[in-house]
Amino acid sequence: MAQERNTPQGPDLTQGVALTDFVDGKLLGHVGDEEVLLVQSSGEIFAVGAHCTHYHGPLAEGLITGESVRCPWHHACFDVCTGEAARAPALSPLACWKVERRDGRIVVKEKREQPSPRGAKAKANAPRKIVIIGGGAAGFAAAEMLRRRDYRGSIVMLSDDDASPVDRPNLSKDYLAGSAPEDWLPLRPDDFYTENRIELRLKTKVAGIDPRQRKVTLGGGESLSYDRLLLATGAEPVRLPMPGADQAHVHTLRSLADCRAIIDAAKGARRALVIGASFIGLEVAASLRTRGVEVHVVAPEARPMERVFGPALGDFVRALHEEHGVVFHLQDAVTAIDGKSAALKSSGTIDADLVVVGVGVRPRLALAEQAGLAIDRGLTVNEYLQTSAPDIYAAGDIARWPDPHSGERIRVEHWVVAERQGQTAAANMLGHKERFDAVPFFWSQHYDVQINYIGHAERWDTITVEGDVKARDCLLRYRRDRRVLAVASIYRDLDNLKAELAMEQVTAR
Ligand SMILES: Cc1cc2nc3c(=O)[nH]c(=O)nc-3n(C[C@H](O)[C@H](O)[C@H](O)COP(=O)(O)OP(=O)(O)OC[C@H]3O[C@@H](n4cnc5c(N)ncnc54)[C@H](O)[C@@H]3O)c2cc1C
Ligand code: FES
Repeated sequence: MAQERNTPQGPDLTQGVALTDFVDGKLLGHVGDEEVLLVQSSGEIFAVGAHCTHYHGPLAEGLITGESVRCPWHHACFDVCTGEAARAPALSPLACWKVERRDGRIVVKEKREQPSPRGAKAKANAPRKIVIIGGGAAGFAAAEMLRRRDYRGSIVMLSDDDASPVDRPNLSKDYLAGSAPEDWLPLRPDDFYTENRIELRLKTKVAGIDPRQRKVTLGGGESLSYDRLLLATGAEPVRLPMPGADQAHVHTLRSLADCRAIIDAAKGARRALVIGASFIGLEVAASLRTRGVEVHVVAPEARPMERVFGPALGDFVRALHEEHGVVFHLQDAVTAIDGKSAALKSSGTIDADLVVVGVGVRPRLALAEQAGLAIDRGLTVNEYLQTSAPDIYAAGDIARWPDPHSGERIRVEHWVVAERQGQTAAANMLGHKERFDAVPFFWSQHYDVQINYIGHAERWDTITVEGDVKARDCLLRYRRDRRVLAVASIYRDLDNLKAELAMEQVTAR
């Protein structure tokens, strides 16, 4: 991710600027050492911090829509009146400054006290006890949003992980590559939970749910009652049923502990074998190459990621990894791992000190099944993210919801979707009726190339390419029956944001 510059850009806003200096409703300048973005919206001028609170994305290169600014990197959205991070993945607000008009010029004054967010607040008859099962993207975002909406009741968050909620996407990227310190990982420091009266219980496995009694039973036998329950149990890596897959040097990657184990193994490794050429597998391949480990990738498909991105981007991803020294064994499979030697279906073996299996994930549905909730290749929820039991909501990788944009019930495995669903579920557990209608978004990072993808296309008739894929400057539109279902882009972040806005305005009939 880009570093913040030391010298702030643009004019000194305390000296004033003219409205005619604005381009597309915004102007980047500074107040002292801090870069500040001026935004013109509904005839007013707002001054907010110029860097996204997620990974410091440059908001001056983002998109202004109504009273909000969207970040070009991972599509967070901020309310420019209050600074609030209205849509994940950013969770913290932007700083806000006072603005004055003097002699026809716009002058930025001192910082404003952080204004209150504008979202609907908890009602007087809000439920007393909310239990969240899952300490990942969706569970954390829900707990944080409950407090942001002034919910005063009890929040218990149960997680069978031993780490508090972490920035999971980083586990296959900068942190695994050794270019991000560990303190980037926690979504919030430990004292956040005590200060916000969120009872986070780690290493706590939930064994059962009784929707009639409104109780959850923990692995140790203790039971907890709830008024509203959020199920956000995520997904777990698929394990390969093959001889040798249970050896200590064969890894999967989901948790911080998994990631630390791979980093430890990579320290002494000369060669790694990655099984699977999709997102996790190839991001791991890139990170291990950054650590100087030789990487071989074995996968059954002809082109990496073709099923999601199509042939042109698939070929690009393959070439990108080959430029960095990754060796592919495509249309092949590993049949057994005997010590360090992995046997290939085609014939021959690959010797590897470390094996990472990235062959997909399976939603963790055991609790939902046991509780008798409606299930259809995921936990079925309505547009308010409510399951078939009215007091139980679901969000994140387990939830299959009615997506108004594709017109289909979909389940995805995207960080931003999980967080936004957690936020919507929080509002609805407080008695509001907010539809989950966000257009799905994900990104994937390979070396210095980020692919941004908006929408959802499981099938398409045509892919049109604008720009040049090989030159890393492109935007691809995936259409079915002439309708754009999804857009993928490389280094065309503003266009990707515009595609998101266009999709928001069209829903399937
Ligand atoms: C390495 C990695 C990199 C990724 N990179 C990207 C990316 O670049 N872009 C992107 O869009 N997406 C990415 N993803 C996917 C993204 O992280 C997931 O979509 C997201 O984490 C889903 O959130 P969730 O809350 O549904 O599940 P999770 O974040 O997995 O959280 C589930 C939680 O539930 C807990 N749990 C489950 N069962 C129980 C139980 N019975 N009792 C108690 N606790 C339980 C788990 O311990 C965990 O705390 C990545 C995923 C991984 C693993
Ligand atoms: S840096 Fe802004 S959304 Fe990630």
